[in-house]
Amino acid sequence: MTDTINIRSDSYKKPKLRKIGVFTSGGDAPGMNAAIRAVTRTALANKLKVIGIRRGYQGMIEGDFMPLRSSDVSGIIQLGGTILKTARSKEFRTPEGRQKAWLQLQNAGIDAVVVIGGDGSFTGALTMSQEYNVSFIGIPGTIDNDMYGTDYTIGYETALNSVVCAVDKIRDTAVSHGRIFIVEVMGREAGLLALNSGIACGAEVILIPESKEQHEALKRFLEKGYKSRERSGIIIVAEGDEPGGALKISEEVRRDHPELDVRVSILGHIQRGGSPTANDRINATRMGVAAIDALLDDQKSIMIGLDNGKIVQVPLNKAVKLNHSFNGELLQIQKLLNI
Ligand code: F6P
Repeated sequence: MTDTINIRSDSYKKPKLRKIGVFTSGGDAPGMNAAIRAVTRTALANKLKVIGIRRGYQGMIEGDFMPLRSSDVSGIIQLGGTILKTARSKEFRTPEGRQKAWLQLQNAGIDAVVVIGGDGSFTGALTMSQEYNVSFIGIPGTIDNDMYGTDYTIGYETALNSVVCAVDKIRDTAVSHGRIFIVEVMGREAGLLALNSGIACGAEVILIPESKEQHEALKRFLEKGYKSRERSGIIIVAEGDEPGGALKISEEVRRDHPELDVRVSILGHIQRGGSPTANDRINATRMGVAAIDALLDDQKSIMIGLDNGKIVQVPLNKAVKLNHSFNGELLQIQKLLNI
């Protein structure tokens, strides 16, 4: 674990580290550009050459590389998405695909790679680093905030604010018409975005994969709470909730309560885009600097994380294999406030 960041002088530099690659992988997340900028400029400040790998692992397999100068990352800190583009590569999941990727790195003289992405991206990095001698440093970038070992992933805060803005608007219609809105929030395997946006919007019910008992809360709300209160309501459901997302839930609600005026809103990719919040930019920048610092310290196969605001290093095998922690306290608060 480390909580200090140093820009190394030439005398500290390991001679073998001369050229690094940086790429984004999996779902884009606001703040990825801030991380690319920080990685590039910290590496350049330490006299390392920087290669941007476009389109994630697929671009690595195809040798879609571009040298990055300081000017190439100018004016990008405020942009959503990723200037390097991203992909979910099926080919990289095969041993043949990873061999091609390794040969491309060899040909380009890339000694180490910074990967900005989520769980799947880090699993790929770990597998390749076990098969070939490539140093990978991970920076967690996903709106899901579902990585073990870090309180924060790049893009989560921006996405959370996007969800809150959208649901506040939906609330206007829900109240005006006396309707129940079932709003689906992203999170295939994780409910943190749904849980926190639900708290921030005062949702009447929040359905997330981490807690099955919330379905009882939904029943109670529809049977008693809805009638006793203002006759409208917001039900936030995480995309990965069991037994299904918003459409499935709406079918059940309509079947059991045909008297209710029910609407569904699936927020979709509107949650992933947009200009990153100040915190997303600041944390992405800190993580980008810390990633190069770790490489200069000869680290490999680690993820940079944030623990109570401090930069930490987490072994990649833990980051991908262990489950992210879930704070049940927020669910209790939600129940308490929905009397
Ligand atoms: O970035 C993570 C995530 O947003 C998940 O919450 C969601 O299930 C998935 O990406 C959607 O990915 P895609 O854009 O590839 O459909």
